[in-house]
Amino acid sequence: MSASDIILRWRHPVSDAEIVELTRAHGGNPEPGWWDKVQNHSLGWVTARAEEGSLVGFVNVAWDGGAHAFLVDTKTHPSHQRQGIGTMIVRRAAQEAKRAGCEWLFVDFDSHLESFYLDACGFRPTAAGLIHLPSAAT
Ligand SMILES: CC(C)(COP(=O)(O)OP(=O)(O)OC[C@H]1O[C@@H](n2cnc3c(N)ncnc32)[C@H](O)[C@@H]1OP(=O)(O)O)[C@@H](O)C(=O)NCCC(=O)NCCS
Repeated sequence: MSASDIILRWRHPVSDAEIVELTRAHGGNPEPGWWDKVQNHSLGWVTARAEEGSLVGFVNVAWDGGAHAFLVDTKTHPSHQRQGIGTMIVRRAAQEAKRAGCEWLFVDFDSHLESFYLDACGFRPTAAGLIHLPSAAT
């Protein structure tokens, strides 16, 4: 299978169980019901499905209701990585956020994914800040 056989869709139904399965495939510990809870607050999401229908890629686009959109939970199934699917779902998310009127698309990531987000997906580096709330004095 090549990336050209993958079907990308924007805001197409994806079940909570499919998100749980995709997260578990990465060794994550998903909270069942999370996607059902969060999707109504999303600008949208991109699904990548193999021809037989299985979910092989996903990214969620959160937003502030205005100019700013935020990529979260970018995932390609481990069985389908390094075939260009991650780059395709991020590009589609950027196109749809632009179409929705957003001006800026943000993402944060661990440093080992710099080549994915900066080189393959075209993000540029920017200053950012972060607080780990459970450790914070406030
Ligand atoms: C990060 C992720 C989405 C990339 O998906 P993908 O479909 O494999 O990405 P692509 O095939 O489009 O990769 C394009 C390029 O990005 C870079 N890249 C992709 N994955 C990478 C990785 N794990 N480490 C370093 N560079 C990577 C490579 O340069 C790659 O090109 P190459 O295959 O010719 O070397 C996928 O590895 C994933 O789901 N990881 C686990 C979840 C995760 O960490 N999500 C990020 C949350 S911020």
